[in-house]
Amino acid sequence: MDEKDLKIPQHVAIIMDGNGRWAKKKHRPRTFGHAKGAKVLEQTLEDADSLGVKYFTVYAFSTENWARPYEEVQIIMNLFRDYLISAVDKCNRNNVRCMVIGERTRLDADIIDAINNLEEKTKNNTGITFIVAINYGSRDEITRGFRQIAQEVKDGKLEPDEISEDMISSHLDTRGIPDPDLLIRTSGEERLSNFLMWQLAYTEFYFTDIPWPDFNKQELIKAFEKYSQRDRRYGNVK
Ligand code: IPE
Ligand code: IPE
Ligand code: MG
Repeated sequence: MDEKDLKIPQHVAIIMDGNGRWAKKKHRPRTFGHAKGAKVLEQTLEDADSLGVKYFTVYAFSTENWARPYEEVQIIMNLFRDYLISAVDKCNRNNVRCMVIGERTRLDADIIDAINNLEEKTKNNTGITFIVAINYGSRDEITRGFRQIAQEVKDGKLEPDEISEDMISSHLDTRGIPDPDLLIRTSGEERLSNFLMWQLAYTEFYFTDIPWPDFNKQELIKAFEKYSQRDRRYGNVK
């Protein structure tokens, strides 16, 4: 495709799937796949930024992922620990604003502290916004939002008639962030797995068989090419 015809989505969301299968094929433990996946994520953030993406959201750990073997969960949590700490300097060097969505109280206290610190220290950066979903589930997010709205009604701050779509959006973890234009899921699965169900109402979907640890800039551009050929009527149409 001619470069001038390539449309760059403002907000790209990715379900990074296939780490375990990728490792298994190489006769390595699943966690080897998660470690490679974390490296690919750092590179993909840079690639998305260099192509002009403004918001980049990734599904790193779902509310359902706690059901995995204890050791696998621990190794993933350790990857978060390492990442969240090293990301402060990296994001500041690259003008990246980092945010985390999902339910935090179930995470270990040091991880919660690292998230708060990373968000606080990068909040004034004006480049790409990088959103990481950790202990995120769309149903959980919507449930928490409902609870807050119900409390506001109960406290007499809000009339049921005043509940609008915008108001609901403003009670989700993604408040203030435009809806994704493009969702990519790697590794052949074609389902949402409880990711951003409210926000993806008009998003274009792109599925690829490539497992996340093999994803790269060429694959990202391929997804953008497909996106460029779609005729969008609603959502953030430009
Ligand atoms: C995605 O890869 C990473 C997480 C869910 C944390 P998987 O671990 O789901 O890998 P597969 O799907 O089993 O290959
Ligand atoms: C979705 O992938 C969650 C993440 C990528 C973090 P899963 O591999 O956990 O999804 P299911 O369980 O196969 O639907
Ligand atoms: Mg999976």
